[in-house]
Amino acid sequence: MILSPSMLSSDFTNMESELKALEKAGLKWVHLDVMDGMFVPSITFGPPIIKAMRAKSNLFFDCHLMINDPGRYIESFAEAGADLICVHAETCDHLERVCAQIVDAGAKPAVALNPHTPLETIKYLIPQLYMVLIMSVNPGFGGQKFIPFCLDKVQELKQMITDAKADTLIQIDGGVTAENARELVDAGVDVLVSGSAFFGYPPYDERHKTFQNICK
Ligand code: DX5
Ligand code: ZN
Repeated sequence: MILSPSMLSSDFTNMESELKALEKAGLKWVHLDVMDGMFVPSITFGPPIIKAMRAKSNLFFDCHLMINDPGRYIESFAEAGADLICVHAETCDHLERVCAQIVDAGAKPAVALNPHTPLETIKYLIPQLYMVLIMSVNPGFGGQKFIPFCLDKVQELKQMITDAKADTLIQIDGGVTAENARELVDAGVDVLVSGSAFFGYPPYDERHKTFQNICK
């Protein structure tokens, strides 16, 4: 299991020390939520902030783009230092093309699905995806409650990946806690995103260990 803490719940006035603290706590990934105020109600940050973070951190930058028509910005995010670029299926008219664009830009391609979006949408893309993100809340805010049917969705996706003989990772994002983490990993999740349930419980090394022990 990989834990990818969502910086949305971090202290934005101290990004550098937050990133350093994550590295010190043994984390390998960090989840960066990009919001445009259109696809989702909130606005967060874009490539300039990610570039500034990149200069201070060697963590794997797991960039979750909650923006309309993300094809316009793939190269900007890759140049800023995104290691993985995850676009929402709902925001792309030509999803296959955008995934190829991510690869061409030098990043790992991933697709996110809102809770109600059927898995069928990405069925044919699975072999070319590094990761699929199952949203377990409606995107836009931290601290929301996990939507229970998303657990079934993870199990179905796991089966689809097995059937496709692919090694695509499954990520889940939204309402992940120390209480439901084990069940999610058992269902097939490889990467847990956690915002409020991670940053709300310092110190980070202890919190990281708690998640690891629960999921082992
Ligand atoms: C929500 C974001 C999440 C958010 C998760 O739209 O995509 O990454 O930070 O926050 P928690 O873990 O608090 O639900
Ligand atoms: Zn996210």
